[in-house]
Amino acid sequence: MGSVNAIELDGVSVARGDRVVWSDGTFAVEPGSFVAVIGPNGSGKTTLLQLVLGLLPTRTGEVRVLGSVPARGNAQIGYVPQSYGTVNGDLVRTRDLVRMGLDGGRWGMGRPSAEDRRRVDAALEAVGAQSFANRRVSQLSGGQQQRVAIAQAIVGSPRILLLDEPLANLDIKTQREIVDLLGVLRERLDLTILVVVHDLNPLLPQLTGAIYLLDGHAHYAHIDDVVDEELLTHLYGTQMRVVRTPHGDLYTRSA
Ligand SMILES: Nc1ncnc2c1ncn2[C@@H]1O[C@H](COP(=O)(O)OP(=O)(O)O)[C@@H](O)[C@H]1O
Ligand SMILES: [Mg+2]
Repeated sequence: MGSVNAIELDGVSVARGDRVVWSDGTFAVEPGSFVAVIGPNGSGKTTLLQLVLGLLPTRTGEVRVLGSVPARGNAQIGYVPQSYGTVNGDLVRTRDLVRMGLDGGRWGMGRPSAEDRRRVDAALEAVGAQSFANRRVSQLSGGQQQRVAIAQAIVGSPRILLLDEPLANLDIKTQREIVDLLGVLRERLDLTILVVVHDLNPLLPQLTGAIYLLDGHAHYAHIDDVVDEELLTHLYGTQMRVVRTPHGDLYTRSA
């Protein structure tokens, strides 16, 4: 018996109102993959995550998440939404926000159980957020807030982690720290990770593949096939170069 795919699309198209956002999505993401989701603004990256989360229906075709039809509130998926840092109230404490990942936002309803406290502590530890666990989220730096968001997404022990532009608005050092954290979590928690990004470079050492939204179609390929000058030039709409350093490191840049 082969292992079930983390995410599978078969002939999927998705629409917003009457407009098809993208179509022809047919691919399978294997468990343990670390996948970038790339494409121009408005190409449907967030829409793809919402399909997987069961928040949007397909127009045609079928999506499977760990072998099942996507369903809202699937505890097997952790989700870090786009612009996470801007949506939290001023007064929420880090630890309470992470706990929301366990009870779907019904926090504040009485004291957490010992088991919930243990899980929240474990998630805070996993992302290195213990030292600011009792601070208000609004007072944290962008990088710290992103760690809290990730803790909230993993506290329920998901199999799949979806992150929507988690590196936006972070400085280069902090981007690097978040990428390293994701690599560690993937190994330690045996996660499949999908991450929406604009710049592949900070993630390149870790990525196994990329889903790219191009000309209204969804594609999935091994990362070696995505880091290709012709493809990236088409995708970004500007001439791109792929550079390999003498040390063998790979990066992309606009020409
Ligand atoms: N709630 C919505 N209602 C209608 N159209 C939407 C909605 N959200 C996004 N869209 C449209 O769907 C397309 C894809 O959006 P989105 O998935 O957010 O793109 P991306 O994340 O790649 O920037 C865009 O044209 C956008 O305007
Ligand atoms: Mg988006």
